[in-house]
Amino acid sequence: MMLRLTNFRQLTFNTYSMSLTDQKSNQGDSRRDFLKKSSLITAIALTPAVAVKAAENQADERFAELFEKIPLNITINNKAYKTSIEPRVTLLDYLREELHLTGTKKGCDHGQCGACTVHVDGERVNSCLSLAVMNEGKKVTTIEGLSNGEELHPMQAAFIKHDGFQCGYCTPGQIMSAVACVNEGHTNSRSEISEYMSGNICRCGAYPNIVDAIVEVSKGGMKA
Ligand code: FES
Ligand code: FES
Repeated sequence: MMLRLTNFRQLTFNTYSMSLTDQKSNQGDSRRDFLKKSSLITAIALTPAVAVKAAENQADERFAELFEKIPLNITINNKAYKTSIEPRVTLLDYLREELHLTGTKKGCDHGQCGACTVHVDGERVNSCLSLAVMNEGKKVTTIEGLSNGEELHPMQAAFIKHDGFQCGYCTPGQIMSAVACVNEGHTNSRSEISEYMSGNICRCGAYPNIVDAIVEVSKGGMKA
């Protein structure tokens, strides 16, 4: 790169010197001729930078290709998947875009709303913050895998009974968190439930009804 820039500067200087010499020996040149020469110098000045940049980009692309996809073995809703995937893909995007398990929602995509909550090896996780390749060999459960066929999970049934949703966008994440909240044993009071569900935002404000559903399920001794 240094060598190229040095050559480039020399070329520009030489071209500019030639231009001045031409001007001295052709005092009769018109203003239009002078502008043409100036434009030529400008064009030469810009071209090498663009070319160098393009060359750098190609090198970057070739380097990235080496790491484009890596193997992934993962179990999702009791089904084993053996695939390869770009390391930059989040678990959320893998679920939604590759497997079309769109029950898991993308809200903020920054770990702040809880809409993307799934279970990984039994623990609740914001799938937008987890790269798919970080879950090699793990077992993932999404909202689609919570029910037993046509039979709703007790938490799903309780959400319906207590009107634990309005628009429903946050609901899959709320239910996955609610199941984990019960399994973690954080249901000793309504305030404790609220605290341990605080990572799941509901713009419709269905919080009291969500807590009602969790209280009912926890009293029934639910286990996911
Ligand atoms: Fe993952 Fe909001 S989408 S926390
Ligand atoms: Fe609408 Fe929670 S039910 S965001």
